[in-house]
Amino acid sequence: MAEKRSMVQIESLEKYFGEDKERVHVLKGVSLDIPEGALYTFLGPSGCGKTTTLRCVAGLERPEGGKISIDGKPVFASGERVYVPTNKRPIGMVFQSYAIWPHMTVFENVAYPLTIHRRPKSEIKKRVEDVLKIVGLHGLEDRPAPKLSGGQQQRVAFARALVNEPKVMLLDEPLSNLDAKLREEMRFEIKALQRRINVTTIYVTHDQAEALAISDQIAVMHAGKLIEVGSAHELYSRPKRKFTAIFLGLTNLIEGRVVELGGDSKPGRIETKNGTFAFVPATGLVKGQTAVISIRPEHIQVHKQRTQGLDNVVEGTVKEAVFMGDAYHCQIAVGDMLLRVHTHPFLSMSRGEKVYLHLDPQSCNGLPAEDIEGMDETMLGD
Ligand SMILES: Nc1ncnc2c1ncn2[C@@H]1O[C@H](COP(=O)(O)OP(=O)(O)OP(=O)(O)O)[C@@H](O)[C@H]1O
Ligand SMILES: [Mg+2]
Repeated sequence: MAEKRSMVQIESLEKYFGEDKERVHVLKGVSLDIPEGALYTFLGPSGCGKTTTLRCVAGLERPEGGKISIDGKPVFASGERVYVPTNKRPIGMVFQSYAIWPHMTVFENVAYPLTIHRRPKSEIKKRVEDVLKIVGLHGLEDRPAPKLSGGQQQRVAFARALVNEPKVMLLDEPLSNLDAKLREEMRFEIKALQRRINVTTIYVTHDQAEALAISDQIAVMHAGKLIEVGSAHELYSRPKRKFTAIFLGLTNLIEGRVVELGGDSKPGRIETKNGTFAFVPATGLVKGQTAVISIRPEHIQVHKQRTQGLDNVVEGTVKEAVFMGDAYHCQIAVGDMLLRVHTHPFLSMSRGEKVYLHLDPQSCNGLPAEDIEGMDETMLGD
């Protein structure tokens, strides 16, 4: 497949807030490239700089350094003193408090960006009708905005952002003030809508499940830096950074020292306090290096009897087994480690039981044991 054309390009973006002693470095050299038509998500913990990056793209913040281009045209370039104001950038925005106007009808809300630009009445009518059809609100033109459900109000906000036919949609936590069920439904709706109109979209969220569900590509951020970019599948199954492994979903980390690198189809080996494990390196590791194996709870297989001929089988004792309907969520002690394991609900598990765990080497992702400033156990939430 041909490489997709780049729609938004960010190079070495630097942003500070505050003055003198209070000055904080919020974006530290963020560079990324968003392909045309992609739904591209910024994901990261609170305060990592997602909204700030988005606001820089929108022209609502002026960065201290770097360059931003939309559709090949620079909208900000620090060296060349380029700064295109928000209303001249080809963007549409939906924010968390999507603020549709309660005193206006659906039609008036959606038409607003066109009325302030004094577009002809006939053009406004046509464009509003078209965009209301796209978001599925056709026929509700005259409904006062407060008489809409939460999901419908959300769609009005989308329609309003789309009515100017932007090249890029910027969505900052657009679902966060909806209840859990509606939020889950709207994920599918946004994804389907985005696919239908194929508009390049930047989506900001701190909710990893939302990011996994909705994105073509996810950029994981932490403390003003870009950590890693990939598809949901790549980042979940083979993250290249320990932070990604921890932040996206739940994982087990087993620390040790690389004693064999492996290669071709042969796995490497890591020596740990609890034995030697075969693993597949996710990224360039060197022999002798301290590294971690990351393995997801659902990738550990539980056997009640010892199986022969498999690599990475360890004996463990079930410390906790909680029935969750679609799985048992277990904590299993192996040596001095406590592994989280999700098993099939039909395989009944009881506390104190002795089991054998198979950590398939292909699912044992070998990563550098880096420490990232500010990374702590609280990010390991269930
Ligand atoms: N106007 C401002 N003045 C001073 N500091 C700010 C301002 N806006 C943001 N910050 C700081 O910049 C950092 C990044 O903020 P930002 O809003 O981009 O984070 P975020 O990743 O969107 O977080 P969240 O998930 O909580 O929305 C935070 O430390 C925040 O406190
Ligand atoms: Mg934010």
